[in-house]
Amino acid sequence: MAKLTFVTHDGQRYDIDAPVGTTAMENAIRNDVPGIEAECGGACACATCHVYVDEAWTAKTGEPEAMEEDMLDFAFEMQPNSRLSCQIKIRDDLDGLVLRVPERQA
Ligand code: FES
Repeated sequence: MAKLTFVTHDGQRYDIDAPVGTTAMENAIRNDVPGIEAECGGACACATCHVYVDEAWTAKTGEPEAMEEDMLDFAFEMQPNSRLSCQIKIRDDLDGLVLRVPERQA
């Protein structure tokens, strides 16, 4: 388990115990975090699971791979710390990860 926090654009916090090996997106859906739509179900094909990685965590979550980078072009207000939450796998060393949900999805 790793602690995972989603912060919505209006400042609501969702603190979740996320099983290692699941994706951040799966945890958002399971816990009804508003603003994560995940239309494609995690196939990296929709960009509606877009999140901003808290600055303190960007080094640990790493860079998006090429396919994710291409999809991020369709995300609403992409920023340098943008990621698709279905492509972030929960690991022990991501315990405490904070992800911010954009105002809206693509
Ligand atoms: Fe579709 Fe992440 S759920 S890209």
